[in-house]
Amino acid sequence: MSHILKTFPVVALEKVSDAYFRLAFEAPVLAKAVQPGQFIHIKVSEGWEPFFRRPFSVYRAQDGVVEILFEAVGRGSRLLTLKKKGDTLDILGPLGTPFTLPPAGVKKIVFIAGGVGVAPFMLFSDRIKAHKAEKLLLYGGRSRAHTFPMTAFKKNGFRVLTATDDGSVGVKGRVSDLFSAVAAAPSARIYTCGPRPMMGAVQAFARGHGLWGEASCEEVMACGLGACLGCSIPTAHGYRTVCHDGPVFDLNELVF
Ligand SMILES: Cc1cc2nc3c(=O)[nH]c(=O)nc-3n(C[C@H](O)[C@H](O)[C@H](O)COP(=O)(O)OP(=O)(O)OC[C@H]3O[C@@H](n4cnc5c(N)ncnc54)[C@H](O)[C@@H]3O)c2cc1C
Ligand code: FES
Repeated sequence: MSHILKTFPVVALEKVSDAYFRLAFEAPVLAKAVQPGQFIHIKVSEGWEPFFRRPFSVYRAQDGVVEILFEAVGRGSRLLTLKKKGDTLDILGPLGTPFTLPPAGVKKIVFIAGGVGVAPFMLFSDRIKAHKAEKLLLYGGRSRAHTFPMTAFKKNGFRVLTATDDGSVGVKGRVSDLFSAVAAAPSARIYTCGPRPMMGAVQAFARGHGLWGEASCEEVMACGLGACLGCSIPTAHGYRTVCHDGPVFDLNELVF
C-alpha cells in the first residue's frame, strides 16, 4: 500500500481526562485510507529535535478529520500538547497491519484495552457498529485520570466494563478481573492492545478457552517502515518488526 507523507492542519486539541489528549487534524485522504489498527508516524516538531517521528494509532477518522488519543509521557508527546488550531503536522501513514474485521457470523466481539491502548478500538468500533454480534469493551486504567466517558463506544453498541488499579472508576483491580464476562462465549473474537503484561494475560486467557485473538503491539520506533529493524519483537516465527509486520499480530504467535 502506498503511504501518504504530507502536512495537515490541526483543527482541535482537547484534554479528555487528566492524562489523555485528543488531537484532530484535517486529512481527507488519510481518513479514507486508514484501517483500524494502523498507525501514523508524526514529526512532532518543526526542527530536528526530537529527530525521530513518534507513532500513534488512529483513534478516529471521519468527515475528512483524523484524530489521535494520546498520553503525554515524554518529550515528543508533550510537544503535541502544545499544538494549536491552524498549526500543521507532518504525517507519514497509514502504516502497519490492520485488525482483521470479524466475519458476519461471529456472535461476540471483545476489545480488551489497557490505558491509552484503547485508542485503535474507537476507529474499529466505528467501522463495525452495524455488526450483529454482542460487543464488549473491557477497559483497564490506572486511575480516574486514565479513564474518560466511553460514550462513543456505547453509541456504537459496546457494553463497557472498567477496572482501575485504585477503584476510582469501575471495579478495583486489573482488566483481567473482568475476563469472566467473556468466558461463556466460545466463538468470541478477542482484540487487545495495552501494556505487554496485560496482553500476556489476555493470551493466556484466550489459549485457556480456545479463543481466536489479535493483539496490537507497541515498541519504540525509528523509521516506521521496516528498514532499521529497531522495533523487532520475538514471535513464534522469529523476530518481526512492529512497524511493518505489525503492529497487529495473531495473539497466539506473540512471545511475552
Ligand atoms: C504502533 C503504535 C501505536 C501507538 N499508539 C499510541 C496512541 O494511540 N496513543 C499514545 O499515547 N501512545 C501511542 N503509542 C506510544 C507512543 O508512540 C509513545 O508514547 C511515544 O512515542 C512517546 O514519545 P515521547 O517522545 O513522548 O516519549 P519519549 O521521551 O521518547 O519516551 C518516554 C518514555 O516512554 C517510553 N516509550 C516511548 N515510546 C514507547 C512505545 N512505543 N511503547 C512503549 N513505551 C514507549 C520510553 O521508553 C520512555 O520511558 C503507540 C506506539 C506504537 C508503536
Ligand atoms: S522502526 Fe524501523 S523497522 Fe520498525
